[in-house]
Amino acid sequence: MSANLKVLFPAEQIASRVAELGIQLRADHPGETITLIAVLKGSVLFLADLARAVPGDVRLEFLGVASYHGGTSSSGAVQITQDLRASIEGQACVIVEDIVDTGLTMDYLLRTLAVRGPRSLKVACLLDKPGNRETDVQVDYVGFTIPDEFVVGYGLDLGELYRNLPFVAVYQP
Ligand code: PRP
Repeated sequence: MSANLKVLFPAEQIASRVAELGIQLRADHPGETITLIAVLKGSVLFLADLARAVPGDVRLEFLGVASYHGGTSSSGAVQITQDLRASIEGQACVIVEDIVDTGLTMDYLLRTLAVRGPRSLKVACLLDKPGNRETDVQVDYVGFTIPDEFVVGYGLDLGELYRNLPFVAVYQP
């Protein structure tokens, strides 16, 4: 493992937390087909495990977004680069994210998807970094709350690398 990586959440801890979240999602949506909307790319590992942790019926949808608020300035500009394949009208939907950081991406997604008429629309994120919030967003399901540090692994990248790590680590340059 790279000397720059310090494990924050090992694979076993992630697995047990994701299992809990799956049960919680089902308990909150009894008898409903849950549409899990994964925001590419970082959420795909979380999605794959979360989907298997939810008992009963789920649908999978994918949404590509490009954010332009990286770096030092926060414009809050987010664009959909790959839209959902199917309508979500009348469906119980849960947006699945790897991390909510400034909250700008999620704020945009909630506003954009809400107008499509889902029966319900909630948010599940593996990692929540509330210390870096620039806008108020409600996150309904949180795997872990983390301090304002740069994390990689389990879907999260640095220059497209490290997404395949089975654990979450703090990257220390
Ligand atoms: C990350 C993450 C969220 C967003 C959160 O995506 O997956 O979509 O940033 O940040 P925010 O709360 O500050 O808006 P990223 O742009 O890194 O793309 P990726 O998922 O393809 O890695």
